[in-house]
Amino acid sequence: MKQMLVKTSTHDYPIYIGKSLRFKLNELIKESYTKVLIITDDVVADLYLDDVRNSLEHFPVIEAVVPSGEASKSIKEYYRLQTVALKNHMDRRSLIIALGGGVVGDLAGFVAATFMRGIDYMQMPTTILAHDSSVGGKVAINHELGKNMIGAFYPPKAVVYDIDTIRSLPDHEIRSGFAEIVKEAYIANKPLLEELLHKKLTDISEEELIRYLYEGISVKKKIVEEDEKESHVRKFLNFGHTLAHALEAILGYGTITHGEAVAIGMLFALRVSEHYTDHDLHTERYKKWLDRNGYPCSLYGISHDDIIEKMKLDKKAANEQIQMVLLKAIGKPEIFDFTDETIEKHLQAFAKELNEA
Ligand SMILES: NC(=O)c1ccc[n+]([C@@H]2O[C@H](COP(=O)([O-])OP(=O)(O)OC[C@H]3O[C@@H](n4cnc5c(N)ncnc54)[C@H](O)[C@@H]3O)[C@@H](O)[C@H]2O)c1
Ligand SMILES: [Zn+2]
Repeated sequence: MKQMLVKTSTHDYPIYIGKSLRFKLNELIKESYTKVLIITDDVVADLYLDDVRNSLEHFPVIEAVVPSGEASKSIKEYYRLQTVALKNHMDRRSLIIALGGGVVGDLAGFVAATFMRGIDYMQMPTTILAHDSSVGGKVAINHELGKNMIGAFYPPKAVVYDIDTIRSLPDHEIRSGFAEIVKEAYIANKPLLEELLHKKLTDISEEELIRYLYEGISVKKKIVEEDEKESHVRKFLNFGHTLAHALEAILGYGTITHGEAVAIGMLFALRVSEHYTDHDLHTERYKKWLDRNGYPCSLYGISHDDIIEKMKLDKKAANEQIQMVLLKAIGKPEIFDFTDETIEKHLQAFAKELNEA
């Protein structure tokens, strides 16, 4: 088992990464809790809920299952979970366990952040993408006017990452998660990037996977420790996300996964970056890697005006300009502001590259 400790302004929390950890919760949870509420989705419940419940024999356990998918990050599910917690007499000394991907982690984390003004919660990520979402304490639900618009910074008490659970993920979820690891490598770990760009996702061994997750989480840990509330360096984690959020919002969540959208967004950000640096950003190698691993690479026929409008709505945009994270070099991210006209020019060139102009 690998382990690290994340420091926050309120407390430090451990991250455990290893095999079969879902059977060892009794050892990993040191505190005594009056009740434990496991929140999961219906896909993960069928696969792992029994294992998790059975390893919590010292605690009274309650379970709540939400439908799998982004739509569960809603005020409706949020309210229903608060009702479950209240009806089961949970109190300020109870624990919530978020068992699942980023959807469950964000939702359960926000329930924990607000139930009786905040109770302990633990993240048990079961997707590769959730190596990112389970660390850093951002929790949220969606508003119909925007994604993650209702939320908090509320760090977990622990992250328990049983990497055996990743084996049941479908290919597009593996691609989705790996895009975020490549992102972390691009902004802060060049050797990791060079290694990853040689790899085919279907040929990665278990030891390699654990190491990649560990290195990706290490990048995230370092950044969130330096900037917990996203006032400066934490924005670098949005590399590739400006275009990605626009594509996701227009296509509707679910057409492509978050990470697949980020993968396209990073290719765009690399092309734009090339105008501002002479350093080699491995863009061609990255593009080949996307192809080799079956990432969709398209703007889906969406008009550039629509993309630009959504890019401006992205909550990271300042003073009406579009904000993007670019790379001065691999491992050297920087924030740039753009006018609509400049972005339009870059989008045109990008569409041409994708044979969509
Ligand atoms: N809080 C943050 O810092 C942060 C960062 C990045 C993303 N996010 C959020 O994370 C969410 C995306 O997370 P995600 O990609 O994990 O999505 P997800 O939670 O929807 O999981 C993806 C799919 O995989 C299924 N699944 C989960 N674990 C499985 C397993 N072990 N085997 C088989 N199927 C499994 C789920 O049921 C779902 O259908 C988005 O809502 C995004 O906003 C949050
Ligand atoms: Zn992301």
